[in-house]
Amino acid sequence: MTYNDNFIRACRKQEIDTLPVWYMRQAGRYDPDYRKIKEKYSLLEICAQPELAAEVSLMPVQKLGVDAAILYSDIMNPVASLGVKFDIVANVGPVIDNPIRSKEDVERLRPIDVEGDLGHVLETIRILDRELSVPLITFAGAPFTIASYLIEGRPSKSYIRTKEMMYGNPTVWFALMDKLGEMVITYLRAQIANGAKAIQLFDSWVGALRPADFEKYVLPTITKIFEGIADLPQPKIYFPGVASGELLPCLHHIKADVIGLDWRVSIHEGRQRLDNRFAVQGNLDPYVLTAPMSVIEEHAKQIIDEGLKKPGFIFNLGHGLFPEASLEKLRELTSYIHTYSRSCIAKS
Ligand code: CP3
Repeated sequence: MTYNDNFIRACRKQEIDTLPVWYMRQAGRYDPDYRKIKEKYSLLEICAQPELAAEVSLMPVQKLGVDAAILYSDIMNPVASLGVKFDIVANVGPVIDNPIRSKEDVERLRPIDVEGDLGHVLETIRILDRELSVPLITFAGAPFTIASYLIEGRPSKSYIRTKEMMYGNPTVWFALMDKLGEMVITYLRAQIANGAKAIQLFDSWVGALRPADFEKYVLPTITKIFEGIADLPQPKIYFPGVASGELLPCLHHIKADVIGLDWRVSIHEGRQRLDNRFAVQGNLDPYVLTAPMSVIEEHAKQIIDEGLKKPGFIFNLGHGLFPEASLEKLRELTSYIHTYSRSCIAKS
């Protein structure tokens, strides 16, 4: 099978013959075969078995026909190596035994040991690198988003304790950001050394901050992370998560290639706020997938028409897939994106 590099080409704003598409959380509970595996194993147990984790990563590529695979793992996996005990609780998310609240808690965090503690993740990447005919995206959670779980101890809507530390104890906050930033750089470099073809930094919850606070408390670490991997030629994606439209003008100088957009700003508006410096990825509202196929296609068409106006566009959702999504609709949507975009590109 020939290697399909449309995704990488789009990240680099190069010419493509078909618009590339992948879906955040494309390995998941909407797929009955995945649910069957989950009856036997937890997420962490799947991740600990490289052959199985690779199989789960491959499923959406085979079933949906997407143009990139994403490593099956979780943003929380590397924090185990720092000495943090956590679990991923079904229908809740990450839960931490002893949340990180004090200077001592932050000081206790060890540097990450990727080979020692996350060898199974690197092995999964190597298996996927051998088996895939589309690029493999690997990822890390960004410091704010990881910190929100470490500090709150569980998923939060208000981020009250996170903000309490950020505003009330900035020295401890910045020490935590530094440690998590170092973790992310080391982890992403190891992923790429083992065969990842692109990386995405997930900052799912940073849209909870106003732009001035994002710039003061978070952006310096994001800037440092992308500088710390800038020598690597693989494309780099920053996804500032849900409700991040107001943060886009703050991102002009980070050394990323692609910015992920949520659905609250149009592709055109997103590009403008980013000063056209990046390729963009997004941004179908995942919950539109509950609509009839004609409505889904109408939304997708609008996104594709705007996306193809400039080089550097990757179709995705504005946030992750949810368990109630339909495999059949996703397959149809993927095929629609490919067919419709091919006809637009051929005409241009
Ligand atoms: O995208 C993929 O298909 C790759 C796998 C992946 C998972 N988590 C597996 C997973 C990726 C990229 C992630 C990233 C992740 N994890 C993020 C960033 C992306 C986003 O959605 O914003 C976040 C915030 C987390 C933390 C987390 N892990 C949450 C909030 C949950 C949901 C809890 C639930 O049960 O609904 C998880 C669990 C999780 N991680 C699941 C999957 C497939 C679902 C539960 C399961 O199947 O066991």
